[in-house]
Amino acid sequence: MRTPRTATDWVHCSVDGRNVRVAAGSSVAAALACGGDGLARTSVSGQPRAPLCGMGICQECRLSVNGQMRLACQIVCENGMHIQTGIAAPTP
Ligand code: FES
Repeated sequence: MRTPRTATDWVHCSVDGRNVRVAAGSSVAAALACGGDGLARTSVSGQPRAPLCGMGICQECRLSVNGQMRLACQIVCENGMHIQTGIAAPTP
């Protein structure tokens, strides 16, 4: 990925209500790292969880993107995207 130089090279989204700017093509996991503490959720025992594998295997990066539970490492940021961390996944 080349270094962003123009306004179109950037994507603006929100992470837990904070405005975050990331390079176009960045993952939601990258937005977490750029715009906050990098954490995606907490475990059932309350331990903080953050993206680990970066390839959709570990499920540690589950969070809400525009109201849908998604994997942060598998989603590319889009303008206006609302990312919310710390939401427990629905139990089956
Ligand atoms: S970081 Fe492992 S599934 Fe996303």
